[in-house]
Amino acid sequence: MKATGTSNGKIILMGEHSVVYGEPAVALPFLATSIETTVTKTSGAVTLDCVFYQGALSKAPERLLNLVAVITETAARLNQPLQDFNITIKSTIPPERGMGSSAAVAVATIRALYRFFEEPLSHEVLLELTNISETIAHGNPSGLDAAMTSGQDPLFFIKGQPFVPFPLNLTAYLVVADTGISGQTKEAVNSIADLYKTAPELTHTAIATLGRLAEQAKVAIEGDKPVELGLYMKQAHEQLAFLGVSNRMLDDLVQVAVKAGALGAKLTGGGRGGCMIALAADKEAAAAVSSALLDAGAVNTWTYQMGDDKRDD
Ligand code: MEV
Repeated sequence: MKATGTSNGKIILMGEHSVVYGEPAVALPFLATSIETTVTKTSGAVTLDCVFYQGALSKAPERLLNLVAVITETAARLNQPLQDFNITIKSTIPPERGMGSSAAVAVATIRALYRFFEEPLSHEVLLELTNISETIAHGNPSGLDAAMTSGQDPLFFIKGQPFVPFPLNLTAYLVVADTGISGQTKEAVNSIADLYKTAPELTHTAIATLGRLAEQAKVAIEGDKPVELGLYMKQAHEQLAFLGVSNRMLDDLVQVAVKAGALGAKLTGGGRGGCMIALAADKEAAAAVSSALLDAGAVNTWTYQMGDDKRDD
């Protein structure tokens, strides 16, 4: 007996961090990267097989605490004992790069477990269980990563509100570049919370500005105005840097992308490492931006035609 579950990566176009404080975000499913979890019947203790660890679930290392919690909680919800199955996770989402890999692992694993035990899974329960993992991973999740890695539509997302899918009909390309440095979402989320205590007014203004920029970005996308969107992305990066969630490499790559002809660029996801994104007017401009980013030290790039990345699940 065997069952699989899948999920995909995500890219936050606008609104990371401010989304935690109730401001809107615009995000895309990143279907070029995905996760597949397979649950297989075995006998004895539950075992885990993933890139970081192979062995008994009960002896998994600390960095997998969120995954262990999600497996344990899902089995409990399903009224199933924690035994007689193996969980194998295969991922093309680079971990700790702001692409939602921790939420995506949880989503694929919960789906696989529900299929294995032949129980229907509502989207609501999927999100609830995924957020258990996200709370362990970075303290105060907005729910955005859980929504994006379990869905296939771009979303205008506000914490706690129904999801608003919207069409991404923008004549532009998005280049995603990996700094090769592990992101520090938890530390970044916590540092903004601390900044809120020490400099409440300045922090509030930056967060509110990021929220307005996300709203303006949505309007720019709906009106197919890539030049305006690029401008909002640059402004968002400045605010995120002000909030202390960028780093030297991200700042450098943002500058390199703009110099190479990008309409705008910013960090994406939790920051302090991870990935940045750059908006390019056409395919040639995207290729020039991508090669400039690789020359400047990015370890990988992906090019995404806005509005042209759908797949069947
Ligand atoms: C992380 O991908 C996005 C953050 O906004 C955290 C969250 O929304 O939970 C930094």
